[in-house]
Amino acid sequence: MNPLFDELQRHLETTTNQSNRKKISEDPWRLTYHVMPPVGWLNDPNGVCQFNGTYHLYYQYSPTDPNGGLKYWGHATSEDLVTFTDHGIALYPDQSYDLHGVYSGSAFIKDDLIHFFYTGNVKHLGNHDYITSGREQNTIHAVSRDGGKTIEKQEVIIHSSDYPQSFSNHVRDPKVTQIGETYYLILGARDRKDQGQILVYESNDLNQWSYVGVFAGPIAGLGYMWECPDFFNVNGSDILLMSPQGLQPENYRFQNVYQAGYLMGQADWNEVKFNPTTAFDELDRGFDFYAPQTFEDEQGRRILWAWMGLPDEDGRITNPTIDRGWQHAMTLPRELVVEKGKLYQRPLPDYKKLRHNEVELSLSIDGNRQVDELHGEVFEMIVNVDRMGAELNIHLRQDTIIQYNQQEQLLTLSLGSSGYGRKKRSVKLDKLENIQIFSDTSSLEFFVNDGEHVFTTRLYPESEQDRIAFSGEAVINVKKWGIKKA
Ligand code: FRU
Repeated sequence: MNPLFDELQRHLETTTNQSNRKKISEDPWRLTYHVMPPVGWLNDPNGVCQFNGTYHLYYQYSPTDPNGGLKYWGHATSEDLVTFTDHGIALYPDQSYDLHGVYSGSAFIKDDLIHFFYTGNVKHLGNHDYITSGREQNTIHAVSRDGGKTIEKQEVIIHSSDYPQSFSNHVRDPKVTQIGETYYLILGARDRKDQGQILVYESNDLNQWSYVGVFAGPIAGLGYMWECPDFFNVNGSDILLMSPQGLQPENYRFQNVYQAGYLMGQADWNEVKFNPTTAFDELDRGFDFYAPQTFEDEQGRRILWAWMGLPDEDGRITNPTIDRGWQHAMTLPRELVVEKGKLYQRPLPDYKKLRHNEVELSLSIDGNRQVDELHGEVFEMIVNVDRMGAELNIHLRQDTIIQYNQQEQLLTLSLGSSGYGRKKRSVKLDKLENIQIFSDTSSLEFFVNDGEHVFTTRLYPESEQDRIAFSGEAVINVKKWGIKKA
């Protein structure tokens, strides 16, 4: 790194930290068991991996601006996937090929080294639309020789000018996978006809890469750009994740500004093509979920993290923490499993160690009476439905309601003013069996029917809004724990 630049960056970082850290640490909306930016802005998870026991979560980070500005990589580590230590900035935008942002990328472990592949964003001065001209998105290789602490940039492995001519300037977010002796690198892309696609390159040594073709797409109706692709196999099923932009809302689906979801299918490694056997489906039904990335941990679990936020909300949905010097967080890590041909997302049992003060209740809810003997702001709760009447409402915090309506077969999350623009999200559901809820100071994640659906949202209740109540008609069993600070 250029020493002058280094000094300037460190100066910037310390001054931002000093002026903001106190204000931020006093914010009651700081989360207690989720990864957050120490100051400023966070977006996508990057370079997620487990190396010699230690879990690494890098993230898109703008330390100087809670509204998101120049992107760095921040870095957090954990020994147990529950308690994380933040290590500040791991990658700076300090080279001519990544000057306007070290954008998203991934990790790949080989021979005791962590290799990183990321996008270097460069914007040229001039009269450009930055879609078809004026932007470089280079694919860069970097390595860590000290177990993830420091990252050394190696070289640009695919220059922006080398992407196929039929593609726009938007080609980014490399993810690497190994099939046999061959490494494949996939990139999310927008073609010149404004269709999302995924490109694939191959290599025998992680250094020299050659273009193979289009791995997936375009798919009619599936948007103009596919960000953050990820490919993996779980329990024998090939899965392709991506974050497409430009989908039209459809009934209860695709309600957020951008989507994040998956296709199941089979990769054909002779043709190097992913053949989907399912339609695109969202991974999460809530308001705040984007750019997920997965890795396989040393126990062989396929774990997913996502940004608990979205870009380009344009004021429709806001986060009042901006005024307090920070914005956004990561979701809880989740395990992905495929059972009977269906993808499930499950909270990690690792988080059970934060449970305390268990309470168990069997409740018969009928009509008008609201049962409200429980309280909690930061808690986990499992609701098992023994018998379902017309509807069940779970009232949480200030104005959050999770409702299952039996006749409409609809599960709905609704928020009032604590949602800061977040109002209603629903999913069709034949039968409600159980809900596992993770509530933090300013977030809510819940897993429906053992992870068949998940809803993730930020919410900003006023202080001491700790209501937990039930109404409707149902017989339920409730287990609730407080969650200790991670
Ligand atoms: C997704 C994304 C990526 C990009 C990064 C920049 O949220 O737009 O495509 O690499 O964020 O921060």
